Amino acid sequence: MTETLKTNVAIIGGGLAGLSLAIRLADQDQKVVIVSKKELTEGSSLYAQGGIAAVLSDEDSFKSHIEDTVIAGAGICKREAVEFVVKHGPASIQWLIDQGVEFTRETSDLGYGNYHLTREGGHSHRRIIHAADATGHEVEITLESKVRQHPNIKLLESHIAIDLITTAKLGIATANRCIGFYAYDNQKRQALTIHANNTILATGGASKVYLYTSNPDTSTGDGMAMAWRAGCRVGNMEFNQFHPTCLFHPKAKSFLISEAVRGEGGKLLLSNGEEFMSKYDERKELAPRDIVARAIDNEMKRGGHQHVYLDISHKPPEFIKQHFPTIYSRCLEYGYDMTSEPIPVVPAAHYSCGGIVTDLNAKTDIDGLYAVGECTYSGLHGANRLASNSLLECLVFAESAAKHISTNSNDQLYEDVDIPAWDETRVTDADEMVVITHNWDELRRAMWDYVGIVRTTKRLERALHRIRLLDKEIQEYYGNFRVSNDLLELRNLVQVAELIVLSALKRKESRGLHYSRDYPDIDNENPLTETILTPE
Ligand code: FAD
Ligand code: SIN
Repeated sequence: MTETLKTNVAIIGGGLAGLSLAIRLADQDQKVVIVSKKELTEGSSLYAQGGIAAVLSDEDSFKSHIEDTVIAGAGICKREAVEFVVKHGPASIQWLIDQGVEFTRETSDLGYGNYHLTREGGHSHRRIIHAADATGHEVEITLESKVRQHPNIKLLESHIAIDLITTAKLGIATANRCIGFYAYDNQKRQALTIHANNTILATGGASKVYLYTSNPDTSTGDGMAMAWRAGCRVGNMEFNQFHPTCLFHPKAKSFLISEAVRGEGGKLLLSNGEEFMSKYDERKELAPRDIVARAIDNEMKRGGHQHVYLDISHKPPEFIKQHFPTIYSRCLEYGYDMTSEPIPVVPAAHYSCGGIVTDLNAKTDIDGLYAVGECTYSGLHGANRLASNSLLECLVFAESAAKHISTNSNDQLYEDVDIPAWDETRVTDADEMVVITHNWDELRRAMWDYVGIVRTTKRLERALHRIRLLDKEIQEYYGNFRVSNDLLELRNLVQVAELIVLSALKRKESRGLHYSRDYPDIDNENPLTETILTPE
């Protein structure tokens, strides 16, 4: 017998998008359930380093933050989304401060009141508020303690959402509405039904689709794949951001070296000490990320190097240790002292700019279904995200979703619908788990080799062919064997990989993060402003 849990609001995800939305709703007396597939806070937000972009200094302006965002986005950001997010920025930061988040303070004139503002690529002003180099950790633990104590919030950790339940899927003849989802309890190893009036996908990005990524294991595109299967459009899936500087070390698992290191003066060098960024962009190390990552990739391929170097050793050791304590000590663990020597770095997959199509209220195409954070395509990032705009996007759209849900909530809606229990009668226990591990590896390698920083049509077609073979195998496996966390994630990743490649094949130009050797120029005469895919 499958257990059913009824709630007004169910949020899938315990990152910044999920936690900030939960607190805002619960503070307005809404009953909220948060479902998280690992421990509550495990996800990209926890590891965010650089900080959160917002107009906080008198020398800065909304106009400037908007322009920087649009320029980084290579001309195809949605203006209304950019203006909306930028203008709500300062209030969102104040909300975090009110929750008790301790940002780094400084009394010099680089600050917001007495907070220190750092700088990152593509920003024409100091506007990144941060908690040293562990901003995500500070924000997440502060919000986590609120959430754990909140009487209106119930937590289901170690539960992975499997698929959304919609009126269309149940054959109910109304406008399609989401009425909850099935989830799998990773500890009890059984499925349950979450019956919710409002479901919010706050499931993060899909960078685990690549072999090398700065992201934790949770970034498997689950929300994007679930929304697509339920009938939602996705947008701009071809724009996968590669962070230019992850630590190169076999054991470091692409540990991120924050862009703030370059913001505070770090230089990129070849092994002979030669700087190379001035050949690529007059903003050098502080050019937007797509440009810096492509420059590094080009230098590595041209010279046959395994990595380049990032050097900030010209700054006083105390400055480095004070601003980058986490990065400094992690580098030391791997044998590099960044106060006295350059550190080896490589690009790695970092952020999904595309995702589920949402409006300014964070609504998706299906009533009762919202999406917030990295799993969305809100229009903010265009063809390339400006550094530190992601955490801001989570905060701003969590607020607008909370407002929309609380003004439109109807507690009785679809309460009496009889949702069929998760059916496990026709499946057995998996015989060979190695099939799953093998397919994970194959998918991620194919995406890295053929759908990476530099693409060609031939490589994309080759990837699509492989993805479709893998998809067939995984669907068969899914149909015959009991679900598990790994199988569900792999099924989602394969789905998202296909959406990325199909979107990349549609874009016959090079723009922002999508660079194709077959179409090396930007097409401003017939611009494809967004790549929208619609489920059949
Ligand atoms: P996440 O924080 O990734 O949270 C997703 C949540 O959903 C997790 O709890 C996960 O377990 C859960 N989940 C996913 N699928 C399911 C499922 N099927 N069932 C149940 N639960 C599920 N951005 C900035 O703006 N500034 C920075 O300084 C910055 N630094 C970064 C550093 C690193 C190392 C990384 C990886 C990213 C960084 N980013 C930064 C990007 C930013 O952190 C993310 O885009 C942002 O945190 C995404 O938040 P989110 O809430 O959408 O998703
Ligand atoms: C970083 O600190 O470099 C990450 C910032 C971001 O991804 O926005």
